[in-house]
Amino acid sequence: MTSSEAPPFHALVTGATGGIGRATCLAVLHEAQARGQSVRLSVAASRPGAALDELVGTLRSQGAEVRGLHGDLADPEACQRLAGQAVEHGEGRLDLLVSNAGMGRPGPLKALALDQWELLFQVNVRATWLLAQASHAALANARGSVVAIASMAGLHPHPGSGAYSTSKAALLMLCRQMAQEWAADGIRVNTISPGMVRTPLTEATYRHEEVAARRKAMVPLGRIGTGDDIARAVAYLGGPGAGYVTGSNLLVDGGFCDHLLATLPGLPPKPAEGN
Ligand SMILES: NC(=O)c1ccc[n+]([C@@H]2O[C@H](COP(=O)([O-])OP(=O)(O)OC[C@H]3O[C@@H](n4cnc5c(N)ncnc54)[C@H](OP(=O)(O)O)[C@@H]3O)[C@@H](O)[C@H]2O)c1
Repeated sequence: MTSSEAPPFHALVTGATGGIGRATCLAVLHEAQARGQSVRLSVAASRPGAALDELVGTLRSQGAEVRGLHGDLADPEACQRLAGQAVEHGEGRLDLLVSNAGMGRPGPLKALALDQWELLFQVNVRATWLLAQASHAALANARGSVVAIASMAGLHPHPGSGAYSTSKAALLMLCRQMAQEWAADGIRVNTISPGMVRTPLTEATYRHEEVAARRKAMVPLGRIGTGDDIARAVAYLGGPGAGYVTGSNLLVDGGFCDHLLATLPGLPPKPAEGN
């Protein structure tokens, strides 16, 4: 079969109009095109509107066959409907589900409202399972994969992040669980845990110049991450180069999470450069 006869590489991306989501749509498109594949994208936002229309137009202008979808992923029926629409767009095949949509609700656990806790688990955990479950046959048909966007917060607790961190930790285990259950169906399931990334979700923090500079100084690679940094990792895990990778979590944080011990006072002096 030549690449022109092969079915298009089809990806469903949720949270597609957000910072990481938009970059992911473009990275997945460009990497598949570089492999000589045609590309079909199902791009999901929470609501219809200018942001979704603009994204669909941009992706079409770069050669993808695109269907724009919308729905509230806190609603189980919307998850099933979105997956069904994507599977229809892919004519029964789905090579990659990127479960990227997510939200935070900072607040101390002693005062957190029950509905806020539940909303975070609905969007950050349950939606990934429901979308993957409803696309299982199409993923199996394409021997495809799932990549869910977790967070370094799912690996490391910090005060005020009780529901978010716990939901992302649950997402990490959900994906390891799916990886084990679905490997026999030829479906790989992996997660990415971003570190500090400047997107609309975190823009208010990084607009503070002093805070941004102090955060940057804590990252061994010397900068805050971008949507593209995460998107390239998604394209890798969702592509043929990761064909033997399943149940893995890829931390994409510039070395930040491992930097704690280097901040201890009283350490021996660092070796001089070049030694
Ligand atoms: N930025 C960071 O530093 C960072 C770090 C670690 C992990 N992450 C994770 O990375 C993922 C993407 O975040 P981002 O930084 O790109 O943030 P973002 O720009 O705010 O994007 C988040 C996306 O999720 C969608 N979404 C939220 N609630 C939804 C719902 N109920 N139904 C449908 N869609 C919903 C939003 O859609 P609408 O815009 O249409 O509402 C938005 O496009 C999230 O899972 C986040 O937890 C981010």
